[in-house]
Amino acid sequence: MRPATIAIDGPAGAGKSTVSRAVAAQLGLERLDTGAMYRSVAALARRRGVAPDDAAAVARIAAEAEIHVGERVTIDGEDVTAEIRSPEVGATVSIVAANPDVRRHLVARQREWAQRHGGGVVEGRDIGSVVFPDAELKVYLTASAEERARRRKDEAPEGVARRDRIDSTREASPLRQADDARHLDTTGRTVHDVVEEVLSWL
Ligand code: CDP
Repeated sequence: MRPATIAIDGPAGAGKSTVSRAVAAQLGLERLDTGAMYRSVAALARRRGVAPDDAAAVARIAAEAEIHVGERVTIDGEDVTAEIRSPEVGATVSIVAANPDVRRHLVARQREWAQRHGGGVVEGRDIGSVVFPDAELKVYLTASAEERARRRKDEAPEGVARRDRIDSTREASPLRQADDARHLDTTGRTVHDVVEEVLSWL
């Protein structure tokens, strides 16, 4: 049987992590946060003093690092769950993620992950448009700029806006709604309500 894959995409603070976690739990599926993979590469580059726009060096890191993304995130066995959410990593991750070679390595790992787990709920920016174009369900979450900034208390609104701008305008797999994705605006809606709607689409 073909593995069931649910793609959840959208900009920062739209509710992807909360919704994908709840949908996965309801369906008994595994969940993959692909943003944590890009953040891990950015964190590792930073640690090694590699400039985020040094395309060849950052791509090498993406090819070689042993990144594990679950409830905890580890790089080469070391727990980096807190580090990858730091403002410093937030400030460089979009530059790292615009690198087509980095994307190539991480997308291959994302597809392997789905093979290994028999599908799952996968969240990111390009999941429905590029990584799993045949996903059973594609959801594109948005929320108003005010609400997204409110949900992102740990990140300056300018930082969130900058990431969104870089993510939407890059050449390699920009953030966009896949043609066959369902759009859901989560502004002012409860998690329960949003999750119920997503499940009703299945
Ligand atoms: O949690 P939030 O939505 O703010 O961000 P994230 O999912 O942790 O992703 C961090 C960054 O990784 C994004 O701003 C993108 O630059 C990049 N990313 C990407 O390019 N493609 C993905 N599939 C997931 C994340």
